[in-house]
Amino acid sequence: MSDIDSVLKEARVFPPPPEFQKKAHIKSLDEYRALYKRSVEDPEGFWAEQAATLEWTRKWDRALEWNAPFAKWFVNGALNLSANCLDRHVAGPRPDKTAIIWEGEPGEVRRLTYAELLREVCRFANVLKGLGVKKGDRVGIYMPMIPEAAAAMLACTRIGATHNVVFGGFSAEAVRDRMNDSEAKLIVTADGGYRRGAVVPLKANVDAALAACPTVKHVVVVKRTGQDVPMQAGRDVWWHEQMEKASAECAPEPLDSEHPLFILYTSGTTGKPKGVVHSTGGYLLQVALTTKYVFDLKDEDVYWCTADIGWVTGHSYVVYGPLCNGGTTLMYEGAPNHPGPDRFWSIVERHKATIFYTAPTAIRAFLRWGDQWPKKHDLTSLRLLGTVGEPINPEAWMWYRRVIGGDRCPIVDTWWQTETGAIMITPLPGAIPTKPGSGTLPFFGVVPEVVDKDGQPVGPEAGGYLVIQKPWPSMLRTIYGDPERYVEQYWKRFPGIYFTGDGARKDKDGYFWIMGRVDDVINVAGHRLGTMEIESALVSHPKVAEAAVVGRPDELKGSALVCFVTPRSGTTADEALRTELKGHVVKEIGALARPDDIRFTEALPKTRSGKIMRRLLRDIAAGKATVGDTTTLEDYSVLAKLREEEE
Ligand code: WT7
Repeated sequence: MSDIDSVLKEARVFPPPPEFQKKAHIKSLDEYRALYKRSVEDPEGFWAEQAATLEWTRKWDRALEWNAPFAKWFVNGALNLSANCLDRHVAGPRPDKTAIIWEGEPGEVRRLTYAELLREVCRFANVLKGLGVKKGDRVGIYMPMIPEAAAAMLACTRIGATHNVVFGGFSAEAVRDRMNDSEAKLIVTADGGYRRGAVVPLKANVDAALAACPTVKHVVVVKRTGQDVPMQAGRDVWWHEQMEKASAECAPEPLDSEHPLFILYTSGTTGKPKGVVHSTGGYLLQVALTTKYVFDLKDEDVYWCTADIGWVTGHSYVVYGPLCNGGTTLMYEGAPNHPGPDRFWSIVERHKATIFYTAPTAIRAFLRWGDQWPKKHDLTSLRLLGTVGEPINPEAWMWYRRVIGGDRCPIVDTWWQTETGAIMITPLPGAIPTKPGSGTLPFFGVVPEVVDKDGQPVGPEAGGYLVIQKPWPSMLRTIYGDPERYVEQYWKRFPGIYFTGDGARKDKDGYFWIMGRVDDVINVAGHRLGTMEIESALVSHPKVAEAAVVGRPDELKGSALVCFVTPRSGTTADEALRTELKGHVVKEIGALARPDDIRFTEALPKTRSGKIMRRLLRDIAAGKATVGDTTTLEDYSVLAKLREEEE
């Protein structure tokens, strides 16, 4: 494989605002650089020092034991995650501080203090024990975004059960496969959950899944919607009935630092989903430290990460990171456009959120819905914005900064993966100047590099493969039940070095620009182009809201570029616009990137986590049938839904 040509040009730089900088945990680029230098010259020393910020019941002997590619962090150390997230704040200065602010989709609001959340967690830990769950057992969690979901996760960590959260939007089949693969003993669910005004039948899905899940002995059901659900005697129990009977005292179980904390399934490029396994001490440390420094989290913040707990972002940055730091974390149950497209902004205003962390796909939707929705609300409580999940197009970044951030809030574009457990490449908002579309520099202790197919660094401004050269505390430990796949998938391509699967470029300032998955690279006439860069060029056109670019096999060029484009509301999608857009891409990138085909669509097919399903678009692009005439808008969202059910 040749290297990847990087063509995105972005020259804007935004230094941290001085008022932000003065109060930030890390206050300057020099301070960042000094700490970073220390962290990579002596990573074990650095992490050992940081580990003192956690409460250990037994001090570890060594920070790291590295039998590549298998790592143990804080060898022989023992701790309990829930004690770090709850007990020490309750015993310390924060018993009555709000831990969770929750808003349901229908509009209810609940607040739980640290003391209340601890009681809830202890009670549920006792419920689990009463139902036969022991240290080392796996517990499935298939729930809506309600405080009970966070309590269930924390209760597992209290007794050493390994949780396996399945996103509430997944089907019965997905629940079945994940429960079977992880051999779960019990599932926590709810009668239903609210999504865009409708009810998601969670319990019914669990019932369907359990027809073929022999290991699952019990189902605990939270009453959320109050709809009628059948309860199978001897197997199913109500959360509220069990909780009433349970004691609110439950001593935290001291657990080995390497005790498996959770399994989370993530799709691979091929085959069945992989059960990514994370362990306790190293994971919690890096999650807590990144939450503190990347989000510059302070006691008075109201921190809102919009991710669902079904994704790793929900694990690390809705629940564990903010609670470990004694923060106030906001949870919202529903859709961003229910009852109207301004729901998120009304939540920010109502709860005076100060930090807001969301995904580029959401930002592009907001951009498309129009400025009038955020403009209806007072967003001046916000002081910091973040993004995660895919490369953000510079124009979407600029819109986010201007319309949501009022040109005042720094943006942290955080690169990481389910596998990395915590943020890896990111700005520190008071220290690192940002550039729209760049994740900027590595977090402490993280050593990323951009290499060619032989594993050699490509040097500044050249595209290549993103790798991580040294182990880090929150790294995945294995794929559940399949250590060979772990080695094969991440450590074989470049022996001894972690391969992320992403393409990237480092600029002359050492800033990382993620170009997306390497499978999203198209070879056009000998140039390997990151689809994301062409998409960014398209989205920088004022009439374009969103774009996805895929390759179609082409005899002459290797691949032809097929662009699926969603125009902004009120735009006429016609031949003139098509010509205009082709010219625009040529102007932005060069003639090598001239789109061969532009297809307008109302919506792009996305995965449940919001990633554009390029594989599906590739099929459509390669298909012989041309869809519709040149001026009709196509709608692939139905196709996408069909495809998702197969997952
Ligand atoms: C992949 C990981 C990590 C939480 C959510 C996604 C892409 C993630 C960024 C970013 C560019 C990004 C990468 C990565 N990605 N964040 N800030 N800039 N790309 O977790 O589902 O495991 O996906 O998401 O391609 O490999 P995930």
